[in-house]
Amino acid sequence: MTEQTPEFVAFAYDASDQKVISQVVEKNWPSAAVHSGGVAEAVALLNKGQTPHALLVDFSKSPDPEQDAKKLRELAPSTTLIGVGATNDVVLFRKLLAAGVADYLIKPLHVESLQQSIISAAHFSAGEEKKSGVADLIVIIGARGGVGASTLAVNAAWVLSEEYRYSVALADLDIHYGSSALALDIEPSPGLREALKNPSRIDSLFVTSALVKASERLYVMGSEEPIDDEIVPDPAAISLLLNEMRGRFQYVIVDLPRNLLPIFDAVIPEATKVFVVSDVSLSGIRDTVRLLSKIKQINKKSDIRLVANRLIDTPTGITVKDFERGTDSKIDFTIPDDIKIAVASNAGKTVSAMSCGAMSSPSKALLVIREICQTIAGKAAAAKKKQNMTSIMGLLGKKQ
Ligand SMILES: Nc1ncnc2c1ncn2[C@@H]1O[C@H](COP(=O)(O)OP(=O)(O)O)[C@@H](O)[C@H]1O
Ligand SMILES: [Mg+2]
Repeated sequence: MTEQTPEFVAFAYDASDQKVISQVVEKNWPSAAVHSGGVAEAVALLNKGQTPHALLVDFSKSPDPEQDAKKLRELAPSTTLIGVGATNDVVLFRKLLAAGVADYLIKPLHVESLQQSIISAAHFSAGEEKKSGVADLIVIIGARGGVGASTLAVNAAWVLSEEYRYSVALADLDIHYGSSALALDIEPSPGLREALKNPSRIDSLFVTSALVKASERLYVMGSEEPIDDEIVPDPAAISLLLNEMRGRFQYVIVDLPRNLLPIFDAVIPEATKVFVVSDVSLSGIRDTVRLLSKIKQINKKSDIRLVANRLIDTPTGITVKDFERGTDSKIDFTIPDDIKIAVASNAGKTVSAMSCGAMSSPSKALLVIREICQTIAGKAAAAKKKQNMTSIMGLLGKKQ
């Protein structure tokens, strides 16, 4: 891309569409250029050797949109193309996709659908470039507050990075009350806030500088912004951010607050697995039902695993069976209430890190967290981990 080419260029005929485009893209790409025109003007731009990252083109006056799309693709193979048109025709839509257009929107444009289309388009191009190198995205959501979702996110990230030796990024999206930094005894990073306020800065260099190192292979992006500082997360910004992280790590773990519904659309469809954490209680049943239905509504095919946390032996009136009946879902993992979790967390450590030293007997909760990590990493990785552990133990001259 030449110096002068904006990252996003749009050519649309109608003033109302231009206005919507400006509204959506100005937040993300301050250098975006929105012009009046269509295919001919876009071709002229590309012929000048200017290739933006993304190009939106109004095909409504094109006699042969499919041919024109192919032509634009040839001129700028690495540019993400978004088509706009007046014809609501599924055959044309499919032809345009086959010609290399990432999405096709019908006029008049609307802010929400255009925003969604830009998010998907970002994944479209990233997916093409890094098919094999993209990290798995593991999303962890608590059905209610205080059920241990962040505890699971931090501990799973630790186990995957320290025991499996994967490179892991933990994104704690709770901007005001994030607890990852605290749980790992590291400084919170201003990166998340900066990314949300200024999404045009999000590139791999920015991501590198905004992540805080928690251990050799574990990096964290988490903030503790002042609670009266209102920050409305931008789905497109979160999407870009996660995309960048996925290009640099083997696993990206997202601690997703349940109240951040506006960004669910950007995160859920991309998730490799979604872990829903709840306590076994009446309100847990109600909120799990609501959360599961929202996730399925966003992506029917989501691979959801249900985790019941903080189980105690004393009867509380609601059993695991009641919970499963009430939610019409099977619980995949049950983590016991374990004082060692609380002790480790108050010491700014994970229970896995602690069990190597100060703790004599293994934490029961950690055993289940390890099972969860095995599900995340798969069987082959578990075998590899066992080998790692065996050789470490061998080096230490210890029996397992
Ligand atoms: N299995 C467990 N046993 C004991 N305490 C736990 C367990 N899981 C979480 N906790 C404690 O519960 C509290 C809330 O956990 P947190 O992970 O912050 O919840 P959430 O992110 O869902 O709001 C923390 O003090 C944490 O140490
Ligand atoms: Mg939390």
